[in-house]
Amino acid sequence: MKKVEISFADGLFDSEEIAGFVRKHKSYLEGVLSREKIYQDSLGWLDVAEWASDDALKKIEDRAREVRQDADVFVLIGVGGSNQAARAVISALPRENAPEILYAGNNLSADYLNKLLQALAGKSVYINAIAKNFETLEPGLSFRVLRQYLEQRYGGGAAARIAVTGTKGSSLQQLALDHGYTFFTFPENIGGRYSALCDVGLFPMAVAGIDIGKLVRGAQEMRARLLKEPAEENIAFRYAAYRNLLQLKDYRLEMLSFFEPRFYYFSKWWIQLFAESEGKDGKGVYPVAGNFSEDLHSIGQFVQEGRKMIFETFLDLSGQDSSLIIAGDDKHDYFDYLDGKDLWEINKLAFQATFDAHRKGGIPCLKLTLPELDEYYFGQLFYLFMVACYLSGKMLEVNPFDQGGVERYKENMFKSLGK
Ligand code: PA5
Repeated sequence: MKKVEISFADGLFDSEEIAGFVRKHKSYLEGVLSREKIYQDSLGWLDVAEWASDDALKKIEDRAREVRQDADVFVLIGVGGSNQAARAVISALPRENAPEILYAGNNLSADYLNKLLQALAGKSVYINAIAKNFETLEPGLSFRVLRQYLEQRYGGGAAARIAVTGTKGSSLQQLALDHGYTFFTFPENIGGRYSALCDVGLFPMAVAGIDIGKLVRGAQEMRARLLKEPAEENIAFRYAAYRNLLQLKDYRLEMLSFFEPRFYYFSKWWIQLFAESEGKDGKGVYPVAGNFSEDLHSIGQFVQEGRKMIFETFLDLSGQDSSLIIAGDDKHDYFDYLDGKDLWEINKLAFQATFDAHRKGGIPCLKLTLPELDEYYFGQLFYLFMVACYLSGKMLEVNPFDQGGVERYKENMFKSLGK
C-alpha cells in the first residue's frame, strides 16, 4: 500500500540512546492524541471532523462554486497562519477553470498593493479576508483598501463579493452582519498555523478548485494511522523524537529540502509552524527551506562545508508525475550526454547525489517520501507535521500554541501609528 514513509540518518545515535529517549517521552503520544486538558483550548484541529465535517465541507463547496462561476480573480487577504496552508496547496496544484488567486494582507508594501489593484482592472473580483484576531495590521489594512475598491466598482453589489473568516462574536463577524458579507468561522480553539483543515484553509482552496474532501480524507487517514502506531513506530513521534535528539547534540537548524519547486509555499507553511511553535524560552530548532537545485548554488556550499549545525529533512516525491525527454539534435552543444534522458530522472539523480554528498559531509539527513503529490497527500502532510510539531514542542518543554514573541514588534508599531 502506498504511504508516507520516513527514514532517519543512520549511525548518529546508538540504539539505547534512541530507546531511552522514546521510553522517556512515549506517554506524550497518548496525551497528545487523546486531546489532553492542558492545551484543550488549542486542539480543535486534532479531531479533523470537528471543523471539517461533511456539513461544513458542503457549505464551503456550495459558496466556492458560486464564486468560481463568476470570479476572474479571488484575493485571499491574510497573513501567517491565515494564508499559508491555502497558498501551499493552491500554488502546488493549479486547477483548470479556477479564478486567478492573488494574495494580500501579508505585507505592508504600497508598491505591492498598488500593483495588485492594477492587476484587478477589468476582471470580476471576489475577496476573502481571514483574521483570527482582527487587529493584525496587514490584513486589516488590506481589507479596507480592497473593500473600498469593490465598493467603488460594484456599489451595492460589493457585499456579495466579500467573504470574511473570523471568530464567532468578533468584530469581523459584526462587519459581516452589518454589511451582508458571507461569514466563515475561524474556530476559537484553533490557532492560525494549525488552521489548514477548517474554513480558514478550506474555503480559499475550494475556490481554487482544490478537492477539499480528498484533502480532509488524507488528514483523517493520517490521524487513524497515528492513533494506531505505537510510539516506537509512530511516524510523527519518531520524527519529533529524532529532531529533539539532534538538537540535544547541538544541531540548531533544520532545513526542509526539496527538488520540486511545487513544495516552495508548503515549506513556508512548515517554517511558520515550527518557528512559531518552538522558538521561545531561548529554545528551538531554526527551520529553513532548501529549494533545490537552485539553492545548491548558494547555501549548498554552507550546508556541505560550513559550520556543522544543520540537519536536513528531504521531501521526496517518489511517484513520477511528469516527464520531459531531452531530445538530441545535430548541433553539438556540449550537453550531448543528456540526449534522450528524462528530466524527471535527471532531477532524481540530482536528489540522490545531493543526499549522498550531504550525508558524507556529516549532515544528518532524514527523508520523508511521498508517493504522490495531490490533495490526499497534502492532507496527510498537514496532519502529520501538526502532530509532530505539537509532540516536538512538548519534548522541548515549550507551549507549541502561543507566540508571545510576535507581539513585541506589534506593540512598537501600534505605538508609532498612534493606535
Ligand atoms: O499561527 C498564528 O496564530 C499566527 O501566525 C497568526 O496566524 C498570524 O499572526 C495572523 O493572525 P490573525 O489571523 O489574527 O491576523
